[in-house]
Formats: sequence, structure tokens, C-alpha cells
Amino acid sequence: MLSVKNVSVSYRESFVLNKVSLQIPDGAIVSIVGRNGTGKTTLLKSIMGLLYPREGKITLNGKEITALSPEHKAKCGIGYVPQGREIFPYLTVYENLLVGLEERNSHILEDILDLFPMLKKLLPRLGGNLSGGEQQQLAIARALIRKPQMLLLDEPTEGIQPSVVMEIEKVIKLINKEKNVTVLLIEQYLDFALKMADYIYVIEKGKIVFEGLTREVQLEKLKEYLVV
Ligand SMILES: Nc1ncnc2c1ncn2[C@@H]1O[C@H](COP(=O)(O)OP(=O)(O)OP(=O)(O)O)[C@@H](O)[C@H]1O
Ligand SMILES: [Mg+2]
Repeated sequence: MLSVKNVSVSYRESFVLNKVSLQIPDGAIVSIVGRNGTGKTTLLKSIMGLLYPREGKITLNGKEITALSPEHKAKCGIGYVPQGREIFPYLTVYENLLVGLEERNSHILEDILDLFPMLKKLLPRLGGNLSGGEQQQLAIARALIRKPQMLLLDEPTEGIQPSVVMEIEKVIKLINKEKNVTVLLIEQYLDFALKMADYIYVIEKGKIVFEGLTREVQLEKLKEYLVV
């Protein structure tokens, strides 16, 4: 279980997150939805250790991890797929998958390529020459190859056509059900978030303004928070 308690983050003087609390139980898919600029990426970066909160506490299975480095958090089993994918354009797909990996186990690579068969034939291609949808799948594959217990996904459907969104949906559900990977999914598309998640949070101006079980939420009420 990952727990975020009263986390506040500021860039210089302006607060972007204001006492945000959330809980992600083991094995769940939890989604955070919110409009542009509400602090979603800031929250994921804080969880991953790329930003340090002004106040608050982040714990993983009861152990405080607030101040750990991103590398240390990765070792604790947290995988991160950043917004915009951050593929290395001048490395091949194969190199992108294995970069920074300490243990090179060909079985894991095979397992991951079975989840993303389209990446198999793209292995020698430069990352920068993939389409947006291919890059997104590569970014998820690159996180999964490190065998995380928990995956943080920042808007994986952003700018991606429906057929690839369906592929991504299938893979996320599969790793959640079969490999028991816990998922924290940041989304702007409410439909995708509702389809995927067990539990949903809405963030507005750096604050959690709504939370509930997905199967119980009233769509109209949720939409009120998200209309532009
Ligand atoms: N490095 C930074 N320095 C100063 N302000 C920043 C920095 N990064 C983000 N911000 C500001 O913090 C606020 C929240 O940004 P954040 O990227 O967390 O939003 P978001 O919810 O992920 O938005 P989007 O849906 O567009 O990705 C925005 O107003 C943004 O301009
Ligand atoms: Mg963002």
C-alpha cells in the first residue's frame, strides 16, 4: 500500500499541491483525474522522488519513503512512465528498454515483448523514429522490464489513437490482474479512467476535491469537475 499524507509542494513561492492525501492499496488500479495544470504531474514526481515535498509524508508498506531518491524508489519497486514518454531518441528501441538496467535477463525481455509484440520488429529502430503510440508502448515496456510492484502512469493516452489506447488498456489490465502490479493512473480522459480504475480521485488547483469507488460515482457529478 502506498500512502500519501498531507503532501504540499511548491515551486519557489507558489504552492502547486496543497495537503494532498491518497491511498493506493496493493493490487488496485487508482486513477487521478483533473484539468491541465492542476498538479497531477507534480504529484507523481513527488511520489517518484523527483521533487521534494515542503510538508507531508509518503509511505510504502508502512515504511517512510518521502525523501528517497528516484533510484532508491525504483529499487523499492516503483516504476514510472513520465508524461511525454521521455524516450531516448538516439538510442534504439532495444537500448531504450535496457538502459540503466543492472540485471540483464533475457527472459524478462521476452516476457515484455510478448506483452508488446509490435516492439519486437522495432528493436533496432531509433527511439526518435517511432510514432507517438509506439513510443508510449515502449515507455511502458521500459518501466515493466524493471519488474515494478507499482506503476505510476502519467497520461498514457495523451495524443494517442483509439486502437493503441485499447492496446495500452489491455496491457495495464493484464499486468494488474496477472502480475499483481498496482497502478496509479493519471488521466485527463474520464472515460478511460472510469474504465480502468477501481477508485478515482479528482484534483483541482492542487487539492483533492472528490474521491470514490468508480462503480459508485455519479458521472454527472464527476463531469462538473472536469468541464473546461
Ligand atoms: N518546474 C516548475 N516551475 C514552476 N512552476 C511549475 C513547474 N512545473 C510545473 N509548474 C506549474 O505547476 C502547476 C501544476 O503543473 P503540473 O505539471 O503538475 O500540472 P498537470 O496537472 O500535470 O497538468 P497537465 O494536465 O497539463 O499535464 C502548473 O501551474 C505549472 O505551470
Ligand atoms: Mg501533467
